[in-house]
Amino acid sequence: MNILLASSEVFPFSKTGGLADMVGALARALADAGHETRVVTPLYRGIREKFPDLRKVDWYFHLPLGSQYVQAELWELDVAHGLKIYFIDQPGYFDRAGIYQENNFSYADNAERYIFFSKCLVHLAHYLEWRPDVVHVHDWQAALVPALILQEKNAGWGSAPPTCLTIHNLAYQGVFVDSAFALTNLPENYFNPDGAEFFGLLNCLKAGVAFADFITTVSPRYAREIATPEYGCGLDGILRRRQKDLTGILNGVDYQEWNTTKNPNLFKAYSAGRMAGKKHNKLELQKLVGLPADEFTPLFGTISRLAEQKGVDIQLGALAEMLNTNMQFVLLGSGSPEYERGYRDLARHFPGKVAVRFGYDETLAHRIEAGCDFFLMPSRFEPCGLNQMYSLRYGTIPIVRTTGGLDDSVIDWTQNPKLATGIKFSEYTPRALAKAIRKSLVLYRQPKLLNACRHNAMKADFSWRRAVHEYLDIYKRLQTSNP
Ligand code: ADP
Ligand code: GLC
Repeated sequence: MNILLASSEVFPFSKTGGLADMVGALARALADAGHETRVVTPLYRGIREKFPDLRKVDWYFHLPLGSQYVQAELWELDVAHGLKIYFIDQPGYFDRAGIYQENNFSYADNAERYIFFSKCLVHLAHYLEWRPDVVHVHDWQAALVPALILQEKNAGWGSAPPTCLTIHNLAYQGVFVDSAFALTNLPENYFNPDGAEFFGLLNCLKAGVAFADFITTVSPRYAREIATPEYGCGLDGILRRRQKDLTGILNGVDYQEWNTTKNPNLFKAYSAGRMAGKKHNKLELQKLVGLPADEFTPLFGTISRLAEQKGVDIQLGALAEMLNTNMQFVLLGSGSPEYERGYRDLARHFPGKVAVRFGYDETLAHRIEAGCDFFLMPSRFEPCGLNQMYSLRYGTIPIVRTTGGLDDSVIDWTQNPKLATGIKFSEYTPRALAKAIRKSLVLYRQPKLLNACRHNAMKADFSWRRAVHEYLDIYKRLQTSNP
């Protein structure tokens, strides 16, 4: 098949979170499965310098955006056999210090930036000589694409491809003032409560839910959760209406990137059969972040966007309670200044036990995954979550809350003592998390059980092989039902 993906971030070119990892890995997995795959993404600052093989394409965009016309150029990179990335080059929109924001303030023109991006995608889908059999868009930044394609189809584009929308996080919907709708140049009848309108505002993700031929999200449990008022972020009604075209597919892991045997980021390689290297990674990590190097002190880690979603408040509470025991904690995160302050205070209260690093650091992320004994992920909600799956592969026991993909990817003792891979708790309170940490400390003192759990974790298989077939099944179904 010819598959066209669109995402506002794609690893290794741009990344603020798991979306980039997911789209980068899905694209590679589709190409590996023999399908001609192309990904469209913005050309952000620095990409051309980092990837000098980018080529300029003989292609110019000159597209209406409300009452003005906006130009852009196109670049491409052949990444692997059957995999090409297209970059939309619009310096006014994308040659900036950040992707969505600077200094914790979203760019004021994000509607304009990503509506334009979506229009470029539709233009490529329509006019490239290479014809996509399906267009698969990700998150709100590309979620207007199905409506834009539908409109061109109604205007006579006979071979318009079917569309699939993947929701990576319902908490980010791309909501803007109603006047932003004019930038789409869509007829007014798309702006109503069954379409792009949300209480008088423009809601890009809702437009995707309304007009995509099929909708997926990134874990089966999250697919069920978002159809409820508690997790639906106001869109549960329309999601329930579309339930027969909605499914959850658990993300895979790119094990070429996230592995413990051939990984230049690690201090030493190790594997389920050769665990000595893990201890070495722990001691080096402790030294690196300034904690006493002691192989017998249990080391907990977190790598996260510091956002409400991630359960920062209960984590701070639980750690304040638990750090009086013999344990260490290392954090790598970036996000809300208020949460950063919370972790800084924690480090001040527990010197020699807590290390915090703020900012974005890919190498340190791998080292924390490899060096820790336990990984804390107490999310309030988690569509899929990748770090817990990276932890599993790294033999670092995840402690997770039973929500979304966390629940779908970790097995607790109470579910299956023989196959347990981690520790789960369900109540969203510091007390419940502290109790889970206490359980992990008990586990830590029982080497036999701990090793069995690590072994199970490292053997768990979340490769893309399974997930890619689920997506292909959907694409094929869409292709056959597309009139
Ligand atoms: P989300 O996409 O909601 O942030 P995921 O668990 O799906 O959560 O993915 C997060 C990804 O971002 C992982 O690859 C993780 O390692 C990475 N990440 C998050 N924060 C940082 C950071 N401060 N430095 C490096 N990588 C980070
Ligand atoms: C979103 C979600 C996260 C998921 C990622 C990739 O950022 O918050 O749970 O793993 O997308 O799908």
